[in-house]
Order: sequence, then structure tokens, then C-alpha cells
Amino acid sequence: MAAPKFVGEVEWPVTIQLGKGLEGAITCHSRIGYVDGEKGWLVYRGYNIFDLAEHSTYEETAYLLLFGKLPTQKELDDFKGKLLGYRKIPQEVIDTLKSLPKDCHPMAALRTGISVLGCKDTKADEVTVENDTEIAIKLISQMATVAAAIARIRKGQEPVEPDPSLDHTANFLYMALGEKPNDLMIKVMDISMILHADHGMNASTFTCMVVNSSLSDLYSSVCAGVGSLKGPLHGGANERALAEMLPLKDEEEAVEYVRDAIAKKKKIMGFGHRVYKAYDPRAKVLGKYSQEVTERMGMPHLFKIARKVEEEVIAAYGERGIFPNVDFYSGTIYYALGIEVPLFTPIFAVSRVAGWVARVLEYLPENRIFRPRAVYVGDMEKEYVPIDQR
Ligand code: CMC
Repeated sequence: MAAPKFVGEVEWPVTIQLGKGLEGAITCHSRIGYVDGEKGWLVYRGYNIFDLAEHSTYEETAYLLLFGKLPTQKELDDFKGKLLGYRKIPQEVIDTLKSLPKDCHPMAALRTGISVLGCKDTKADEVTVENDTEIAIKLISQMATVAAAIARIRKGQEPVEPDPSLDHTANFLYMALGEKPNDLMIKVMDISMILHADHGMNASTFTCMVVNSSLSDLYSSVCAGVGSLKGPLHGGANERALAEMLPLKDEEEAVEYVRDAIAKKKKIMGFGHRVYKAYDPRAKVLGKYSQEVTERMGMPHLFKIARKVEEEVIAAYGERGIFPNVDFYSGTIYYALGIEVPLFTPIFAVSRVAGWVARVLEYLPENRIFRPRAVYVGDMEKEYVPIDQR
């Protein structure tokens, strides 16, 4: 028998099971959150998402994710006090945001704004759990202020100063829209923020963890997370899903839209998930609120169209485990609440930052740099040819 041939460090020929897109790969232990894709479960620190959506607030949920337990009243008050204390952002961040092209994507602007925040923080490079916990709280607070400032600046308006009398979500809406939100807006947006706060080892969370695992600073990690979330296969799907549904006039057009996408083998935004093969529990909650909010805001047709799209997609793809995900109904809610489409993905970031920083902090004490490998399938023994002989 011929001696085995080695290509790199792999004995050749060899059969390797590749989980494309790291499917099925396990990166670490975590106590922060759990997704059961078969059962359609989402759990933060032991609490199921339906209970949190019904009873908690975004601030309390962020505390839970960061510190591993529900806070006492005093702990929550102190945490909210800290968030409030960090709301105002340096003028340099606002000046930089104003200098960006007006048509720059708000997620690109958000990434830039967070980067400037990092440049302004003299303790950014002190990578300890204690210091990064403080930066984490600062980032949860200031992500909202930066996103809101972007919403204003892109319309040629001045950013709105934070209002200390308002809670985190209400203040975010106030700063973004320039007027005090009503109770319905605050309630529904807070629920949506809770639902988006964490979701296992999704692309943006993993991105943050990979960057931080080199012991880089938390601002760099979160900037990278924003970049990852921006993509249409991830957080960017909420904008796309709504943008594709808006031109549909009625349920008949909704059916045509889905059939056309199926015929052209086009992905339908807001559907499918790497982990969920059952109905995404977040979409369940958001679907219910989509109906309520669109009806109350005089846009019931939007929900009807969305429901029709859902029915058609499930009829075609349900057997393959393709159902609405969190990005499908969120856009209908934000739109009905009067929020501009380009702000949808930044809202996702304003919420998800809690999961990003919680998971980075959890990994830090046991940190080991992430360093997977690729299977090399290129040439091995080529001879270098001088440039004048090629
Ligand atoms: N519409 C039509 N077909 C789909 C869809 C969809 N939305 N999603 C998956 N499929 C099909 C896909 O075409 C493929 O078919 P085939 O095996 O015949 O080639 C099969 O299902 C597996 O799809 P995949 O893209 O390999 O699955 P994945 O696990 O790599 O991707 C996903 C998951 C979420 C990126 C994908 O479902 C997708 O692109 N969905 C649309 C974008 C979207 O809504 N993203 C939001 C995800 S949830 C929240 C978040 O992360 O922001």
C-alpha cells in the first residue's frame, strides 16, 4: 500500500464532515440564554421569553442578562440610575455623525458612532471584568442615544437631549422621534426590545465574542457586532421584510409575491432560521402585537397582508421548518408606530447590545482566543515563477 500523502496536517484522502457556516459547532458553555429550535423555546437565564415579554422591562431584562438574576428593587433602581447617568454622548460623536454622508446607512453610522465613543473612553483598553462591566452598561445606554441621534441627523434635524424623567425605551423613542411617545408605543417597543435582547450564538453575538477573545476592547467588539447585524441575512432582514411587503396592495398581491419568490427561488425575508425549525416564539409575540398595533393605528391591511404572506410561506415551506422569524412582524409594528424603515435594524442593535456585552463578559474570565481552521483544498507544490516569465 502506498504511503499516505499529507496535505498540510491532514492525511489525504480523508472524509471531513464540514458544518458549513459553522452549523452545529459548539463554541463555549453559557448560562445566559438557551434556544431550543425544535420546541420553539427561548430562555434568558432560566426565564422563558413569554414571561419576560409579559412581565419584565428592557432594563430589568438587560440586568438579568448581565448579572444572572432578576434584580431587587434597589438593584434595578441603581442599574437604571447608571443607564441614565450615561445617556448623554460626547459632542465629538454628534459632530462625526453630522459629518457623514446623508444617505449613509444608519447601521454604518451606528458602527462609526460607537467607534468614536470608544476613542473618547480613556479606559477602553483596560480589559478586566470590572471595567468592561461598566463599559457594558455605558454601551447599553449610549447605543440608544447614538441610534436616536442618527435618526434625527439623517433628516437634517438636531439630536434631542435625553429626558431623565423617561425610562430607557421611552427615552429612546423620544430622542429618535422628537416627541413624547404614547403608552402603546412604549409598551410595544419595550416588549420588542426584550424579545431582541439575546439569542444564543447568532452571527453578531459570535462576532463580538471573536473580536473580544483577542482581548481587544469592548467598543471594538460591539462595533463588529453592529457590522454583522447589519446584513440582510441577520438583523437587516427586518427592513427588507417590510420593504417587500409595503408595495403589496391586498392579500391577492401577497399570494402573488410569495408564489413569485418561490418560482424564482428567492429567499423571503423574515422567514427561516438556522436554529428554529418550529415557530419562532418571538414572532409569536410580535405577530399578536402586530395585529393590535396595526389595527389601533388604522393600518389593519398591513397585518392582513403579512398574515397572508405567512400563510403562503408556511403552506409551501412549513414542512421544511421555515416559519416567520423575529424580523417578520417587528417591521410591521415599527412602521405602524410611525418609525422610519431605515431605523429598524438600529433598533435591533439598541436591544441586542445587552446580549452582546453579557456574553462577552461571561466568556472573559475563561477567555481563550477563537481560532478555528479551514480545510485547505488548494495546490501545494507549485514552483515560483519570476514575474517576467509568467
Ligand atoms: N425563504 C425561502 N427559502 C428559504 C428561506 C427563506 N427565507 N430560508 C431558508 N430557505 C431555504 C434555503 O433556500 C435552503 O433551501 P435549499 O436547501 O433548497 O437550498 C434551505 O432553506 C436552507 O437555507 P439556508 O440559507 O442554508 O439556511 P441557513 O441556516 O444557512 O440560514 C437564514 C438561515 C436565517 C439566514 C435563512 O433562513 C434566511 O436567509 N432567511 C431570510 C433572511 C432572514 O429572515 N434573516 C433573519 C434571521 S432571524 C433573526 C436574525 O438573525 O436577525
